[in-house]
Amino acid sequence: ANEREENETERGLRIEDKGFLNTAVIRSQITYIDGEAGVLRYRGYPIEQLALHSNHLETAYLLIYGNLPTKEQFAFFQSEVMRHGPTHADSEQFFRSFRYDAHPMSMLTSAFAMLGSFYAEANPSLQGQRLYTRGDKESLAVMDRQIYRLIGKATTLAAMAYRVRQGRDFVSPPAGLSYTGSFLYQMDHLGEENYVPNPVLEKALDVLFLIHADHELNASCTTVLQTASSLVDPYSAIAAGCASLYGPLHGGANEAVIRMLISIGSPENVPAFIEAVKRREKTLSGFGHRVYKTSDPRSFIVRKTADEVFKVTGKDELLVTAMALHDAAMKDEYFISRKLAPNVDFCSGLIYRAMGFPMDFFPVLFVVPRVVGWLAHWRQMMLQDGGVKIWRPRQVYAGPGQRDFVPVDERV
Ligand code: ACO
Repeated sequence: ANEREENETERGLRIEDKGFLNTAVIRSQITYIDGEAGVLRYRGYPIEQLALHSNHLETAYLLIYGNLPTKEQFAFFQSEVMRHGPTHADSEQFFRSFRYDAHPMSMLTSAFAMLGSFYAEANPSLQGQRLYTRGDKESLAVMDRQIYRLIGKATTLAAMAYRVRQGRDFVSPPAGLSYTGSFLYQMDHLGEENYVPNPVLEKALDVLFLIHADHELNASCTTVLQTASSLVDPYSAIAAGCASLYGPLHGGANEAVIRMLISIGSPENVPAFIEAVKRREKTLSGFGHRVYKTSDPRSFIVRKTADEVFKVTGKDELLVTAMALHDAAMKDEYFISRKLAPNVDFCSGLIYRAMGFPMDFFPVLFVVPRVVGWLAHWRQMMLQDGGVKIWRPRQVYAGPGQRDFVPVDERV
């Protein structure tokens, strides 16, 4: 048996690749990243151009369907997404069943799975068939409906997770506002009467949504695809992605940056913090990336957006500490030699804070737009040539060889 275990590679080359540093699991046409040059493109379009000229919902169409929409295509897509915003009345009870201090990400992760229970048409196990076939109009229409629903309801669920914590009533998505404006309206996170979203802040949040919409096979997107490869419904797959995103090494980093800046306190404490990072006692959250070995191109867009937001909200008091930390790290040999530079999360939390969102809500502000990228990859995988192959990696077994069972009384 031992010999066979050692020779298991006879069925092909098996590579041990911890953390998938060098493993490609899919051919994708969605997002291109050049980590050395700091380039990010959605479907060929540079992220800088999209951030300047497009909006989150138009970019969502681009990511999912491959091309920028015509006026008519966009109007249809927008109205379908917005029409699917409201959730079933029973979902209110679901949110009310959480304890008063539940973390919004715990609520949101569960809420996506809960949502799936309403849509049997999206569940291949219940339908007893492979649901999605290229060229089959009916099955593509089922797929489109799940896409509209998940994008439309992502903002509603997020706003519900916010409001339930405050003991406030839920607000149905209003008519006539943009996707991002509608989200802000449903949140009314500052509790203003007759709240109207500030156009500068609405635009800023929309740009942040757009640049967070996809980033190829990051941990959460991979989780979505891994889960969906068993042909489970997309709601369950997105719940899985949401759970993965929440870790502090991924989407939880924007919350971790603010906690880190508060703990540093002021610029005088930056050198001591940097030394603690170098002794590996601390992590510099918001720095480093698996793919970018130079500044994350999104971080420049975030900084520009921050300038606009701060003109409305005033500067965040943590900004000076953040800048001192940034400058110290960029000059330090530890960070230079490891090619560690700011990622998108280094400044995004500062904007969210200035806009008045609570810290534990920041990862939710990452999930809402990332639902788009997850869906783009899910659709691509479901419709790929040759159908879906279940993702079932192999391991390199390093445990004991065969052993014989010893009854409990004879064990020493
Ligand atoms: N602070 C201190 N040291 C770091 C950091 C950091 N933020 N990031 C990487 N390093 C060090 C590692 O300790 C390692 O050093 P070593 O070679 O001496 O052992 C070296 O740099 C290489 O780093 P790895 O951890 O191997 O890089 P990996 O690609 O596995 O990890 C990650 C990438 C998880 C993003 C990492 O840089 C990190 O933990 N950053 C902080 C968390 C963060 O900001 N995450 C957000 C990522 S962007 C996003 O999800 C939107």
